[in-house]
Amino acid sequence: MNSNRLRSLPHLLLALFLTFAGAQRVSAQDATANADVKKEGVTPGATAGATPATAAAPAAGGADAAAIAAGDALFKGNCAQCHAVNEQVVGPALAGITKRRPISWLIPWIKNSSKMVASGDEYAVNIYNKFNKQQMPSFALSDKEITSIIAYVTSQEGAPGVAANAGPTAGNAAATDGKADAAGGAEAGAGKYVDILLIVLVVVLIVLVVTLVIIGNLMKDVLRGRKDLDGRDVEILEQRFDWGKLYRSPVMRGIVGTVFALVLLYEGVQSVMAVGLTQGYQPTQPIAFSHKLHAGEHQINCAYCHTSVYKSKSANIPSANICMNCHSQIKTESPEIKKIYRAIERKQPIQWVRIHNLPDFAYFNHSQHTQVGGLQCQTCHGPIQNMEVVYQYSALTMGWCINCHREMPLNTKDNKYYDNLVKLHNTKNAGAPFTVSSNGGTECSKCHY
Ligand code: HEC
Ligand code: HEC
Ligand code: HEC
Ligand code: HEC
Ligand code: HEC
Ligand code: HEC
Repeated sequence: MNSNRLRSLPHLLLALFLTFAGAQRVSAQDATANADVKKEGVTPGATAGATPATAAAPAAGGADAAAIAAGDALFKGNCAQCHAVNEQVVGPALAGITKRRPISWLIPWIKNSSKMVASGDEYAVNIYNKFNKQQMPSFALSDKEITSIIAYVTSQEGAPGVAANAGPTAGNAAATDGKADAAGGAEAGAGKYVDILLIVLVVVLIVLVVTLVIIGNLMKDVLRGRKDLDGRDVEILEQRFDWGKLYRSPVMRGIVGTVFALVLLYEGVQSVMAVGLTQGYQPTQPIAFSHKLHAGEHQINCAYCHTSVYKSKSANIPSANICMNCHSQIKTESPEIKKIYRAIERKQPIQWVRIHNLPDFAYFNHSQHTQVGGLQCQTCHGPIQNMEVVYQYSALTMGWCINCHREMPLNTKDNKYYDNLVKLHNTKNAGAPFTVSSNGGTECSKCHY
């Protein structure tokens, strides 16, 4: 029997254990790093996903899986901010779209829906009116790209929890706060899968270690029964693994110390980064007011309650008087509604708990983004119309603001203020999109007093 092999057994076990412990740490780190990347990529701009997707499209060939993958990227980059497959977001749920409409209708609709509406197409006019005359933007996509989006949509129909709601970030928000309804289903599912995989891996490794130890002991027993071993072999055979020596070894201490320091450093950096981050914050409100009921089912316009959102810096939380426009008649016996009456009798405002709150040194203006920029509320606040209780959907970090400003083209249409600036921009850097940042939207003083 080769004595070398015997000697290396404890080393082998140790190496195996260290490798595994290391691998697990790294994979946990990876997962967080990925989450961070996604957090930064909050910008849902039409431009965001379009570039890699277009590159992927030609590669799609005829293969279905490739077309679906390309469609997935295109959908997330262009459509997911307003559409989910199995759920209504800003626009209708797209499940069953191929049964409702032929592809020959879908292609021109997605390329330019307002042209279809203007042409008087009956279905187009109906759905446009049904969605409060909200215009779906035009898309410079090829027929093939549109077909791949449709293929992706069809592949996702009825998939539980795979509502690709409001973009890749929805899953992330949900994963962090664990509250968002169906939105995070896909992401959470993937997380669970990784967990199960890790558990299986741990079990397999434990079984492996135990088996190796048993084999090792068996081999020793067999060898002990033999008489023809020389002194050196016997010495090795009787050798016990010296834990004390391992403990005293400077190399081992160095490794353990370094790993420990790295873990501490990593955790420290993570918790410092999270200071002031309140993504997912969902306090209980004094009255069980539901956006899902009011803004979703009853389709009350956001600005009916948040009256100044298109006109001023602040969006405004409605006073009890606005509730009374309806609740002087509706559900007057409900205990929740009686809380509104009590507030009015006492002449005290309802004590809503504030959810979104930037620090005082940062300046954010709603009208600049909604009225001038033409952004949808959902781009920043997520699928509010599906929320029973509102939570903070976006990170609201500086990186979140800046990322969008770098990528989002300015809404210069019908805005004379921009005419000269656009001309100037186009003569200086022809071809480059005129983004918020090219207009100075990333200068410190724009956001900091
Ligand atoms: C800014 C929001 C927005 C974006 C982005 C958007 N849509 Fe829409 N979409 C709508 C709205 C709103 C409607 C309802 C019709 C209307 O009001 O014009 C709609 C309607 C549709 C319909 C008809 C649905 C039906 O049930 O008949 C299809 C199909 C569609 N969109 C596909 C897409 C695709 C594909 C993309 C991405 C390339 C996309 N949309 C991007 C808002 C959007
Ligand atoms: C019927 C009135 C009403 C309508 C319609 C309404 N809201 Fe609200 N909204 C409220 C009230 C009241 C609160 C404060 C209580 C709460 O957070 O649920 C609120 C809170 C919010 C908040 C969180 C504010 C904070 O504290 O940071 C956001 C964001 C919001 N609404 C967005 C919207 C959007 C987007 C729409 C349209 C899709 C909308 N709301 C429609 C009444 C309304
Ligand atoms: C434009 C009309 C309208 C306004 C404004 C309005 N609501 Fe409502 N509200 C409704 C309707 C419709 C219902 C559903 C009634 C039903 O289920 O029969 C409802 C239901 C409710 C309920 C659930 C009551 C229950 O017991 O089922 C609460 C709570 C509520 N509203 C609170 C508010 C508050 C707080 C405000 C002001 C911020 C407000 N509403 C403003 C129309 C309105
Ligand atoms: C570009 C991103 C963005 C868009 C688009 C946006 N919001 Fe906001 N919203 C914010 C931020 C950031 C805050 C926190 C502001 C603060 O603390 O000063 C906020 C806060 C709010 C609040 C709390 C009250 C306040 O003004 O601080 C309400 C209500 C609200 N938004 C409603 C809306 C509605 C309704 C729309 C659509 C008409 C909308 N928002 C569109 C980013 C956005
Ligand atoms: C989803 C994209 C998006 C996000 C997120 C966003 N912005 Fe903006 N922002 C815009 C757009 C688009 C404009 C340009 C509007 C216009 O003038 O046409 C703009 C303009 C501005 C301006 C005016 C810039 C100028 O050149 O005059 C300020 C200030 C600003 N944003 C602050 C913020 C802050 C602070 C945040 C984060 C809390 C934020 N924005 C998050 C899209 C975004
Ligand atoms: C588009 C808007 C915007 C621009 C441009 C911007 N900031 Fe900020 N900044 C913010 C917001 C919003 C916060 C608050 C973030 C938070 O609470 O986590 C912030 C936070 C900060 C902080 C506090 C540290 C932190 O992360 O909380 C510092 C320091 C800062 N900004 C410096 C700068 C400097 C320097 C520049 C110019 C290079 C700049 N900012 C440009 C929006 C902006």
